[in-house]
Amino acid sequence: MEIVVSGIRSTGCLHLGNYFGAVQNFLKMQEDSNYHCFFFIADFHSLTTHPKPDDFRKNTNEVLVDYLACGLNPEKVVLYAQSDIPEIPELYLLLNMLAYKGELERVASFKDKVRKNEENVNAGLLTYPVLMAADILIHRAHKVPVGKDQVQHLEMARNFGNRFNHLYGNDFFPEPYPFTFTGTPITVPGLDGSGKMGKSDGNGIYLRDEPEVIRKKVMKAVTDSGPTVPNSEKPDAIKNIFQLLTLVSDASTVAHFEEAYNNCNIRYGDLKKQLAEDIILFNAPIKERIDGIIRDTDYQQMVLKLGAEKSRASASATLKEVRKIIGIE
Ligand code: TRP
Repeated sequence: MEIVVSGIRSTGCLHLGNYFGAVQNFLKMQEDSNYHCFFFIADFHSLTTHPKPDDFRKNTNEVLVDYLACGLNPEKVVLYAQSDIPEIPELYLLLNMLAYKGELERVASFKDKVRKNEENVNAGLLTYPVLMAADILIHRAHKVPVGKDQVQHLEMARNFGNRFNHLYGNDFFPEPYPFTFTGTPITVPGLDGSGKMGKSDGNGIYLRDEPEVIRKKVMKAVTDSGPTVPNSEKPDAIKNIFQLLTLVSDASTVAHFEEAYNNCNIRYGDLKKQLAEDIILFNAPIKERIDGIIRDTDYQQMVLKLGAEKSRASASATLKEVRKIIGIE
């Protein structure tokens, strides 16, 4: 049996990028008895950029409700909030002694955050990969279902684990590797013609967006004046729209618009209308479950409590060993 850990930073409800990236992998892995899965809400991580008390609870709950509405089953996987597990910050503290300032400064996501948050380059941003390593190593995980953008963080988690093993002369921590159950990681594009769908980029379609909101967002998606040469290569913005269509529409719809594109008689207005309606249809059952679970705060509390208990049982066993190895007793 392999141990699996993954989480999503809780900066608000989930979008289609989260769904087709992380959550689909979670759903498949939860059905496979080879895996013992720990899936969590990375709410401590959200404090690096979202420190307000009102945001904290709200964002954690939004991710929880969306996870459950997507079909994550708290009977099959351990589903919990990071901040309910005090063993994680303690391991984070201990791993910080093994993390070098230089290597942390070279992490791509840190450099990116520094560029975007010049006025608040806090040490939490710098040590983000250490906290993430603690999330993973606390359960001595083997596999971490994440997208390409997390590969460097995983490499750091292996480095810290290996350094610990080497320093104390053991092989206590296994090496955690990125993993996608579905083969190649899917990157879901945004609607602004740029790269990936992201919460901070304002280009996302959320699972709980109202149909009218989805229509508005999709109709605003960046396009161009259309192809003039048959069978020409699509520019990125158009590729993105087609990629979204492939995720939510059936094959004949995609084929219809591909053909229209290749024959240079595509009408982007029709393409977008179709895309919007198919996203609305795709979201509908999830949104319906969200609307039900949102009201059931007792159920939400129960799930978090059960998850915290199971997660802490595993986390405290690891931490106890770590303390013993370091000589803290
Ligand atoms: N850094 C991840 C992200 O931004 C979230 C995350 C935090 C995570 N801790 C983790 C993912 C541990 C996998 C395992 O999406």
